[in-house]
Amino acid sequence: MCGIVACRTDGIAADYLLNALSRLEYRGYDSAGVAIRTTAGTAATVKSVNRVASLAPLLVQFPPAELTGTGIGHTRWATHGAVTPGNAHPHADCSGRLSIVHNGIIENADVLRGRLTAAGHRFSSDVDSEVVAHLVEDAMAPSAATGEAPGLAAAVSTAITALEGSWALVVLDSQTGGMVATAHRSPLLVARTTHGDLVSSDIAAIAEWADDYWALRNGDVVEIAETLGWTRAGEPTSAPRPIRKTWSSAVHELEHHADYMDREIDEQPEVAARILDGLGSRIADGSLWRDTGIGAFSRVTVLGCGTSLNAGRIIASAFSRLGGLPHDYVVASEASTAVLDPKALVLAISQSGETADVLRAIDEMGISGNLVALTNNPHSTLARQADSVINCFAGPEIGVAATKTFVAQIVTGVAYALSALVDSGRMTRRDAQRQVADLGRIPDLLAQAIAVSRDVIPAIAAEVREASGFVFLGRGSGVVYAAEGALKLKELTYRWAEHYPAGELKHGPLALIEEGTPVVVIDNGDPRLASNIAEVSARGGNVLRIGGPGSRIPALGLSLGTPLLGAMEQWGPLESVVPVQVLARELAVLLGRDVDKPRNLAKSVTVD
Ligand code: M6R
Repeated sequence: MCGIVACRTDGIAADYLLNALSRLEYRGYDSAGVAIRTTAGTAATVKSVNRVASLAPLLVQFPPAELTGTGIGHTRWATHGAVTPGNAHPHADCSGRLSIVHNGIIENADVLRGRLTAAGHRFSSDVDSEVVAHLVEDAMAPSAATGEAPGLAAAVSTAITALEGSWALVVLDSQTGGMVATAHRSPLLVARTTHGDLVSSDIAAIAEWADDYWALRNGDVVEIAETLGWTRAGEPTSAPRPIRKTWSSAVHELEHHADYMDREIDEQPEVAARILDGLGSRIADGSLWRDTGIGAFSRVTVLGCGTSLNAGRIIASAFSRLGGLPHDYVVASEASTAVLDPKALVLAISQSGETADVLRAIDEMGISGNLVALTNNPHSTLARQADSVINCFAGPEIGVAATKTFVAQIVTGVAYALSALVDSGRMTRRDAQRQVADLGRIPDLLAQAIAVSRDVIPAIAAEVREASGFVFLGRGSGVVYAAEGALKLKELTYRWAEHYPAGELKHGPLALIEEGTPVVVIDNGDPRLASNIAEVSARGGNVLRIGGPGSRIPALGLSLGTPLLGAMEQWGPLESVVPVQVLARELAVLLGRDVDKPRNLAKSVTVD
């Protein structure tokens, strides 16, 4: 989604901005732009609806010696207004003195635009963000009484009082070189480094230069000057505690992999093993859960979107299957009508921790007291809102398709679920130890699933290359994995893919099956699947069974002798996610899709 960078350095701003923007490309975007302060006190602004790399040639029109070390940049993922250079950020006020970049949504933009237009402001784009430039312009006007103009930070503080919605903003005054950052419900980071001051919406952009950074709190206004001036509502405030960077720029290396998704699929066994190493000894004695400080609960409600919601459903059903706790799940974008049990533990799951649907759902549902965030970003907005934060330690995930974060969420979430059940007396330590031993097999199961999938799936992908659509089936614990398979396939290949509990076939979806229709079956060993497979085969469907030895994709529980419908039924056949990931990726490659940046999608979905 949208990304912000800004720099105030003694070096060449274009180098920092373009480099940092290229590191935000993984988030997904459709246009980009930069505004760099010139030595004449103007803004050199270029925008493009192509890749970030296309900005450099556009800057050639400005003599390099006239470009200073101060500037702002942005990658835009369109919400309001078409994908055009005019709608790309940065946006300017009427005079061109002020330039702004914005992430989030200004919900009252239409009202503000009407008011500002009536007052004589001229707009040059269709986007909501542009109102901010004009509001700051108004706020900087000299006072009629004193003739004095407020400084940039004061003007920004005034301007944001008119806004409704969410924003991370950087405002550049090219005349003075002043720069101000502010945020409300959208992430923004400031770092003071040996290279100068850097601002970004994502640490990935500036990790090469910054070791520590500050994450702006809602309402913070930071003047980026000789000293960093922190204010809130116009009053001085202290800076938040600095955060030590954990993101390594090495994550950008593809090594021998064709793309990031390819690399991230392969990392899954190692991620699972690392998590279990870290948590293992504190699961069965209940201390892992006790340390969260969360009080008693008698129900589990999971909140999330997409793949994270799928992971949440699996974790929640582990609470039910192992501890008899009722559970439900809420699709975050549909939370407005959900009725929350006051005794429920709410587990909000989001790899980014910035998913706007999840953040809004927490507000709408009025959750407080029992909110646990399970996230890959412990400094995210979600983490800051939660009563307790569980870091899933997947490491940075670059591909838009969630892969290793899904595995990390499940392994971490199930570990905490087991610990919570022990802590609340719903499970004995001995039973928990048995479960922990089962969890310990996951890295090997994943590794074997990877080996099998890499071996057999390329040929299957070639076989189904022309199929216009796919059906994914499962029963019991396999249903959510079928859902995850269908999600991955449509996300990456742009072919339709639907999942169903296999028993539902005869109630409608069977009509979709014709000669050659690929039907992926997650075979967790449920004996009832045999008749569903027969129903599909009888109609000419191409059954692609993911199961144990003898199945078309024998990726489950191989040679480790796992009883498929037994020990691991609590959280389902986790390794089945590997073949569905590999199938989606292989087919996407064959079809010439951009595997890491599927069309229309973004890594961090910061609009609702
Ligand atoms: O950052 P989140 O985990 O909250 O993101 C939720 C979904 O947008 C995300 O899982 C999405 O479904 C994935 N791109 C699917 O691969």
